[in-house]
Amino acid sequence: MYLGIDLGTSSVKVIVVDEKGTIIDSASSKYPISYPKPLWSEQNPEDWWEGTKDAIKRIIEKNKTIGEQIKGISFSGQMHGLVLLDENGDVLRPAILWNDGRTQKQCDYLNNVIGREKLSQYTGNIALSGFTGPKVLWVKENEPEIFSKIAHILLPKDYIRYKLTGDYKIDVADASGTLFFDVKNKAWSKEMLEILNIQPSWLPEVYECYELTGVIKTEIAKELGLNENVKIIGGGGDQAVGAVGTGTVSDGIVSVALGTSGVVFASSAKYEVDKQNRLHSFNHANGGFTQMGVMLSAAYCLQWWAEEVNKDIETDKVYKILTDEAAKIPAGSEGLIFLPYLTGERTPHADVNATGVFIGLKPIHTRGHMTRAILEGVSYGLRDSLEIVKDMQIPINEIRITGGGIRNELWAQILASVFNQELHIVEASEGPAYGAAILAMVGCGQFPSVEAACSELIKVTKTVKPLTDDAKVYDKYYSIFKKGYSQLKNLYQELSIL
Ligand code: XUL
Repeated sequence: MYLGIDLGTSSVKVIVVDEKGTIIDSASSKYPISYPKPLWSEQNPEDWWEGTKDAIKRIIEKNKTIGEQIKGISFSGQMHGLVLLDENGDVLRPAILWNDGRTQKQCDYLNNVIGREKLSQYTGNIALSGFTGPKVLWVKENEPEIFSKIAHILLPKDYIRYKLTGDYKIDVADASGTLFFDVKNKAWSKEMLEILNIQPSWLPEVYECYELTGVIKTEIAKELGLNENVKIIGGGGDQAVGAVGTGTVSDGIVSVALGTSGVVFASSAKYEVDKQNRLHSFNHANGGFTQMGVMLSAAYCLQWWAEEVNKDIETDKVYKILTDEAAKIPAGSEGLIFLPYLTGERTPHADVNATGVFIGLKPIHTRGHMTRAILEGVSYGLRDSLEIVKDMQIPINEIRITGGGIRNELWAQILASVFNQELHIVEASEGPAYGAAILAMVGCGQFPSVEAACSELIKVTKTVKPLTDDAKVYDKYYSIFKKGYSQLKNLYQELSIL
């Protein structure tokens, strides 16, 4: 049996799968996120570790015989977070997360003074505020005391690996999101380490996502009720591992994740970089590469609308009530367009100052129109990334969708029509945690490769077809949506400095 651990932003989820890939059990633990200042977003790595232990223990306590049968563990993790440890391996400050926007100044320096061309040449990417590298510069400039004590830099899920094994190790997929990793050559970038003042000795050793990185510590195995030979397999960033969980591991397959953030992920055997760096160019968990577009607020837009703005509706009914109202509104929401930049945007605008906007509000519009416009606006935002994939001539033979938002059938239908393409939903409902379990299976020799595991384990269960008439309406509104950001860019900037 195998454990897949998905260290997310709001909770950690642990699943157990058997040798056939069947999910036997799962458990999750929540932990807090703190926003100490505007644009800041932090978490305590100790909370991740306590949450992970708690979830594993609950599974093992419930199924006593599973503990000694676990052969391997692997991970999926929230990407880009900066975890700093001192020479004793103790945490120096709260982790600065992927959705933290404090590093605009450092990003401007990297993109404009060092220059986008050089960054792209060294790493395949440019500086974006969520990436790890600009955060290292921020700590150097703002917390020199902390900076002087750094002995180790880790990403979030690698802190869990460290607590399980004592090893400082990482995988290529998660390393890609740091901006100090040379994605093409799969090694830390010497040039970037100099630019960012990072000592090579601070960095973990790099592995492929399906490779063995170590074995669990005896005392931790005892504490968790596991056997002493549990192998720890690389794992990766949540998008790459989530893509494994949907079988997005060969050319021509693109996955779209409609989670808190929204992601369009194209799997590719060869390394490619968009001339304008509109997509992230990262390593994939199968040994290949990916082109990826990330929206910062996708399903989060609906969550905000349901749980904040409409919190007077009963909690267990709010999503159904809002969606039923939206289903009665025609495609295009009678001229109402929502720009889904509630927490700024990464792809394609790379602007922390962008905000959410309703364009076209008129007295005819009801709450149902506004809900529908939100579902449509997020879908247009995902289409932005899909259009770049097409523009780069990356083949798209099949689109697979995942993420909590897809449980909303209306949303899946809208997305298919906005893309004007069939969307395939896969059986595995556990997303990145399932991808992590697959990597554990491959790393322990249960399957010869990630591709072989996916072709045996991942099954498409449902196909959502676009509605031809709606697709025509959406094409028209999408052309207006596309102009929205550029028309408002200057206003966003003015608002941000008030
Ligand atoms: C990917 C990204 C998010 C986070 C949080 O680049 O920022 O997917 O990993 O889930």
